[in-house]
Amino acid sequence: SNHQFAEMLRGHEEAATFYQRVFAFTEEGNAGREYASQRGFTNEQLTHFQIGFAPNGWENLATFLTKKNFTEASLVQAGLVAERDQSEGVYDRFRNRLMFPIWDSQGKVVGFSGRLVGEGKPKYLNSPDTPIFHKNKLLYGLHLARASIRKKNIAVLLEGAADVVAAWGAGVDNGVATLGTALTEEHAKILRRNAEHILICYDSDSAGQSAAFRSASLLEKAGCTVSITTMPEGYDPDDYIKAFGAERFNSDVIGSGQTVMAFKMKYLRQEKNLRDEGERMSYIEEVLEELAALPRAIERDYYLRQLADEFSLSLDVLKQEQYRMYRETK
Ligand code: GTP
Ligand code: MN
Ligand code: MN
Ligand code: MN
Ligand code: MN
Repeated sequence: SNHQFAEMLRGHEEAATFYQRVFAFTEEGNAGREYASQRGFTNEQLTHFQIGFAPNGWENLATFLTKKNFTEASLVQAGLVAERDQSEGVYDRFRNRLMFPIWDSQGKVVGFSGRLVGEGKPKYLNSPDTPIFHKNKLLYGLHLARASIRKKNIAVLLEGAADVVAAWGAGVDNGVATLGTALTEEHAKILRRNAEHILICYDSDSAGQSAAFRSASLLEKAGCTVSITTMPEGYDPDDYIKAFGAERFNSDVIGSGQTVMAFKMKYLRQEKNLRDEGERMSYIEEVLEELAALPRAIERDYYLRQLADEFSLSLDVLKQEQYRMYRETK
């Protein structure tokens, strides 16, 4: 009901304020402050993204909100606390975590992503889906980035909240992220409504690379043109900025996106030894197959020439072969 919606929103607003106060002003917040400074978050970043800290206890938030006349049932429904198994009462869902508030597209807090301070599992804990929070269509940071995304006609799509915060610190103010879910058709549509171009900037581990493929094809289906960034193996945007600085992040990562096709070619050859003739042939065939599926003639031609040059093949032969493949799939 409307009343329940309003209660959940009010609960999140109060919780966000609570986590921020604990972070900024309390003894218990010390662990969070230390962690944030060790991660290199500046005050500007902490303020812009309203980052807070959930203290390491079982009932801090629950007590605070109950005193403000929230019912336990409404806090459970909002996903801020959970019901105890063995006894009466509730306990705080987020403990000992750096807290990133998650906003809806209008800027209302509707959930949290909590990064554990120190070692343990799970590393990130996100709010469960609730009537006000739907992971399948929510993009972290969208309301902060929207004006820039529209003005630049491009959005930078990252993996997590920490990457959005780090990128923003490096001057990239059009970054958004999905939270602990793969990009959905719904996400793609929302992005397309705000920009024509999308730059995918996922982690450069294998999970990030295969996710980049999947996201790219969903985004293209939604009508976006897509580029993909590359970073040295094992880095994510946050790590990269820390290691190499904002300037290089802007020039060598954000400013050096590749087309999906170039990214695919690089990906396909990673798993092959191209000095082996058999593997070389199958690489060429796989690339031809991918190329045949490209809708734009210019792009097809561009990569066909590249392939012809690299492997000293005649362009005519490549075109014939591609035509044959095309016929076979009809
Ligand atoms: P940091 O050490 O904080 O830099 O994390 P990371 O860069 O290793 O995060 P990773 O690339 O693994 O995760 C990217 C995003 O995936 C996070 O922002 C989360 O939203 C999500 N994620 C990562 N780990 C978990 C997890 O254990 N549980 C859930 N639900 N989501 C996770
Ligand atoms: Mn990880
Ligand atoms: Mn990752
Ligand atoms: Mn990462
Ligand atoms: Mn990271």
